Amino acid sequence: MDARPLLTVSEVEKAFGGIHAVDRCSLAVLPKTITGLIGPNGAGKSTLFNIIAGLYRPDGGEIRFNGTRIDGLPPYEIVDLGLTKTWQIPHELRNLTVLENVVLAAKHNSGEHLLNLFARPRQVKADEKQWRARAREILKLTQLDGLANEHARALSGGQKKLLELSRALMSDPTLVLLDEPVAGVNPALAGSLMDLIENLRRGGRTFFLIEHDMNVVMNRCDWVIVMHQGRRIAEGPPESVRANATVIESYLGG
Ligand SMILES: Nc1ncnc2c1ncn2[C@@H]1O[C@H](COP(=O)(O)OP(=O)(O)OP(=O)(O)O)[C@@H](O)[C@H]1O
Ligand SMILES: [Mg+2]
Repeated sequence: MDARPLLTVSEVEKAFGGIHAVDRCSLAVLPKTITGLIGPNGAGKSTLFNIIAGLYRPDGGEIRFNGTRIDGLPPYEIVDLGLTKTWQIPHELRNLTVLENVVLAAKHNSGEHLLNLFARPRQVKADEKQWRARAREILKLTQLDGLANEHARALSGGQKKLLELSRALMSDPTLVLLDEPVAGVNPALAGSLMDLIENLRRGGRTFFLIEHDMNVVMNRCDWVIVMHQGRRIAEGPPESVRANATVIESYLGG
């Protein structure tokens, strides 16, 4: 394992009114790991992910991805650098098909598609073809290919999570942030989703995931970071985190 972090969060802060959602939080994610982020409700986990992905601007601190400073960059530039996030609550476009949802993810992500549409219409058509081909490939991988032409609204909760992951993969990310990838997903589908993530990790991708499901955290993560009241309070391999008294008190419930 490469010892140099892929992602470094240093002293990052974010307040909403009087609430310090993220309070001088520092952490690092090593390449080609599945790193888990756990902590009680309201600990600031989703807020931190939104900051990393460029959706919120931090009040202070610094974030580096692959050596590049990314805090303050717009989300599409961060995606272009190879960092993508999925949502805690799936953001599918209900009235589009599964395939269209995945194709659109690429367009949203490119950040300059509207400009291209006017400047280079022929290029756009060629891109469209490539995107559709790529989307179909990804849907095979996530086992949604059989549902490619269904409306996204017809999917089950678990399938919507798979659709979220499919959309994230369109940009060929190095690092994927997953906000509760298996929440509300039935155990069988959750298992295959995590198998898929392990396969993608073996292929060289890195995953940083928020999860309340201790099964996933203990069995699938290489490294676990614990957040409490906006800060990192502990980290380590899953077994050591589980045995950590502070963690037990603050999170696992005494
Ligand atoms: N957009 C916002 N405006 C105001 N307060 C917010 C906003 N987003 C989050 N908060 C507050 O910031 C704190 C951290 O919330 P966050 O959603 O990051 O927690 P979390 O660790 O993801 O929790 P959960 O496990 O329940 O998803 C909470 O007190 C929350 O109410
Ligand atoms: Mg959250």
